[in-house]
Amino acid sequence: MKLSTLYSEEQIRRSIKGLARDLNKEYKQKNPILLIVLKGSFIFAADLVRELSFSHVIEFVRVSSYGSGMVSGEVKVEVPPDVSSRHILIVEDIVDTGKSIVKLKEILEEQSPLSVKVCALLDKPSRRVIDCKVDFCGFKVKNAFVVGYGLDFNERFRALKYIGEVKE
Ligand code: IMP
Ligand code: MG
Repeated sequence: MKLSTLYSEEQIRRSIKGLARDLNKEYKQKNPILLIVLKGSFIFAADLVRELSFSHVIEFVRVSSYGSGMVSGEVKVEVPPDVSSRHILIVEDIVDTGKSIVKLKEILEEQSPLSVKVCALLDKPSRRVIDCKVDFCGFKVKNAFVVGYGLDFNERFRALKYIGEVKE
């Protein structure tokens, strides 16, 4: 298996600054704000929240697709904490088919939050099987499997400082 660099540390850093600028504008006048951080975005979220100038609380939620490797199967969502009467920002590493985010949004919306938006470092629109809007997106990627900066391939490569493309 070969890896090639898709986005360098510096490119990621600049992208996060840009995302934070947009988020700071969007959420400046809003309150209270809950960030829901999904597992694969732990590194992204750690860098992102330190650029945010609005107050917020953070909860971690696990959304997992059954099946391993590069195939996304049925979606399983852990029940999130109480979300009513808050503005919710979902912080996701990558939106692929869209199934995980759509499922999570459905569950959150049952509790009537004030708003639900999605911030994803990466978006692979060509792989969508269900309509899913990414409100704040770092990079749009082509149909490649990427790892690093929190993203894994069978739990490997999460600690890479850059985002690499898997080439088999
Ligand atoms: P979706 O439900 O198909 O949108 O799946 C999104 C989830 O699949 C992400 O949160 C990742 O955990 C995983 N995923 C999708 N594409 C990739 C990739 O290229 N690399 C690593 N994980 C991926
Ligand atoms: Mg994920």
